[in-house]
Amino acid sequence: MGKNILIVTGSDYSDIVYQAFYDTKKLGHKLYLLSDGSFEPRPEVFEKHFIYDLRKTKESLEYMKNQNEKFDAVTIKTSEWLTPLVALLAKQYGCIGNEPIVAFNCRSKYHMRQCLERGGVPIPKFKLCKNYEELINGIREIKTPCVAKPVGGNASYGTFMIRDEKDIESLKENYENSIKFLKEKAIDSDVFAFDKEEMDLIGVDGHVDMITDYLVEEFMDGHEISVDALVQNGEVNIIGTEDQVRMEPPYFVQLAARLPYVCSANEQAQISDLIKLTIKAMNIKNSATHTEIMFTSQGPKIVEIGCRIGGDNLHDDILNLTGYNLMFESIMIALGEKRHYEVKNKGHKVLKYILPEKKGRIKKIHIPDEIKYDSNNFNIEILSSVDDFVALPPEKFDYIGYISGRGETAEEAEKNTNEALKKIEIIIE
Ligand SMILES: Nc1ncnc2c1ncn2[C@@H]1O[C@H](COP(=O)(O)OP(=O)(O)OP(=O)(O)O)[C@@H](O)[C@H]1O
Ligand SMILES: [Mg+2]
Repeated sequence: MGKNILIVTGSDYSDIVYQAFYDTKKLGHKLYLLSDGSFEPRPEVFEKHFIYDLRKTKESLEYMKNQNEKFDAVTIKTSEWLTPLVALLAKQYGCIGNEPIVAFNCRSKYHMRQCLERGGVPIPKFKLCKNYEELINGIREIKTPCVAKPVGGNASYGTFMIRDEKDIESLKENYENSIKFLKEKAIDSDVFAFDKEEMDLIGVDGHVDMITDYLVEEFMDGHEISVDALVQNGEVNIIGTEDQVRMEPPYFVQLAARLPYVCSANEQAQISDLIKLTIKAMNIKNSATHTEIMFTSQGPKIVEIGCRIGGDNLHDDILNLTGYNLMFESIMIALGEKRHYEVKNKGHKVLKYILPEKKGRIKKIHIPDEIKYDSNNFNIEILSSVDDFVALPPEKFDYIGYISGRGETAEEAEKNTNEALKKIEIIIE
């Protein structure tokens, strides 16, 4: 029998994600959308588009409770900040999902570290700091080199390294700049806090401010990968892996990615064990997950985990390489349909982020059609607009967009992406 499925989102979707919706509808189900109204979804996909200011978690729940429609499944693609709301809605309707506190523990990097520590997962030393004084003391305790990051951040906004005493001289300015940037983001887009009442509703022990509370962590040296895995009834299946390239410290904005991450069978087994241990420690039961691992000189350690699909290109590129549509799979998991996976990668993808070359106002963005419709399958996403003021850390943590290209080998994918990138024209004044 057809089921009612609620999709929650902070932004619109790519063609490939819409394909998941069409495929779900073909099975006889009905789809509904809950968003903040920042975009118009494609016509005739959703029975109804509920719009509310989703930064207000408790009010959004109330708003949905007062609707006539009831749902058999609730799920999300990537919007990290909305995962607690998705879990609360699933609970409200008695649907399959993660517990709200599990989603919150993935949102608050402090609570995440506590869960991972209890679960015996390898992580760096960490300390919660609620103001500048505590931040200084935290750095003294953890010792340099260390990393400071906002408890509720994403996209590495406001994250920086303190390499030595010299970096402490600019700490106050760095910290204040970051908080200013995060507060602006909290108002107009995708980082936001939960109020006291909302944290009580979720059952949070030890309230945190997602923007002004910082975590100081021991610096992990080494290279970083991400892993997208699907979890059904606590059972873990790794679908996609990505090798990450990030900025040189003291900032960590991602510059590029290579999919899949190529490694030995031995290393694959080690990654698989670590992901399973991490998901168990967080108590994630039914959802997609996105985890970052750092290979340090003391062995692999967890950077973070989210109970959602990886962002940017990952959804579309993982489909391109493995044939699995993670949005469709997330819907099936939310419906309780038993899934089975056998993952084989066909080819490689290389993604490059387009960062501002200098600080200033964007005057022109031009992407020639020849690369938009090229057979090397370029996924191109431009996130900034003409007239936006953009800058690099420490002032701002902007990126203009990204492009990812395909090849039979990793080298070929890299070459294709680089050539296409040269044809994109961005003028900043
Ligand atoms: N303890 C650490 N040691 C070394 N590098 C770190 C540490 N913590 C974070 N980083 C770097 O900063 C990046 C951002 O941190 P984290 O993933 O925790 O925050 P985020 O804002 O959710 O990031 P993103 O969305 O970019 O993945 C990490 O991917 C990693 O490169
Ligand atoms: Mg991260």
